[in-house]
Amino acid sequence: MSQMVVTPLSDALGAEVTGIDAANLDDATFGRLRDALHDNIVLAVRGQALDPAAQTDFTRRFGEIQYHINSEYKMEDQPEVLILSTEIIDGKNVGIPDAGSDWHSDHSYVDRPTAYTILQSVIVPKVGGDTEWVNMVTAYETLSDEMKARIDGLIGIHSFNRTRNPRMKRPTRHQNEAEYYAEISPPDAFHPIVRTHPATGRKALYVSPRFTIGIRDMIEAEAQPLLDELFAQFANRDLVYHHNWRPGDLVMWDNRQTLHLACGGVIAPEVRRLHRTTVLGEIPF
Ligand code: SIN
Repeated sequence: MSQMVVTPLSDALGAEVTGIDAANLDDATFGRLRDALHDNIVLAVRGQALDPAAQTDFTRRFGEIQYHINSEYKMEDQPEVLILSTEIIDGKNVGIPDAGSDWHSDHSYVDRPTAYTILQSVIVPKVGGDTEWVNMVTAYETLSDEMKARIDGLIGIHSFNRTRNPRMKRPTRHQNEAEYYAEISPPDAFHPIVRTHPATGRKALYVSPRFTIGIRDMIEAEAQPLLDELFAQFANRDLVYHHNWRPGDLVMWDNRQTLHLACGGVIAPEVRRLHRTTVLGEIPF
């Protein structure tokens, strides 16, 4: 068994794991890694250089691969891997340049959202390109009792369709946004605003400015201010871990307990490239 050591990265969430080679983990160490992920919500392992096939194998150890709904930037010979990249070659983006630019939990817009996401850093810019995670367990636990009672049993409406979300004001790279989102967006997904983790039993807030567009059976005039109040929790920096990428970082997180945000700020000709894999989760409860 390897000498895996887990060291917290912040008071909010996140830990660095040392003493492992992610591509060659025995079952016992993998089990400890998954437990550490449930406990710490985000794990960073430095100095890993998993190629797309090895990253896919590593991801499969957590469960079934979840493929992104957009096929455009899946790796051609390894479609389990989604390319996140600011590179432009022959006038074309080689990956999604702006993925995650608003707080979200991966694929919350489908019935079975992502359990775990794994990012392998490949090219790191000198400036910009950081990522942040917010602890949604603490975000829930630190709500007032009155707010906890108010949101108990409420169901959030999640949509990929940016044009239906008044909080998403920035233009994206799509020439005809309405057409693109109407074509690609799955039907709305409905998830409890407070979800329970299947392994830890902990409760977490499960709403995000990017994908939660309303609350089922609640009029907009009530639902939107309530969502605003919940989103205001993320302004509390005490709940946030900020990651400054290094080449070779392998970072994984548990989407059932956190939202994340790509901070942006990469200035061409600097390039940021990461490879993303995702693991299908359960129906939230
Ligand atoms: C994501 O939202 O999945 C990507 C986050 C990042 O690129 O930092």
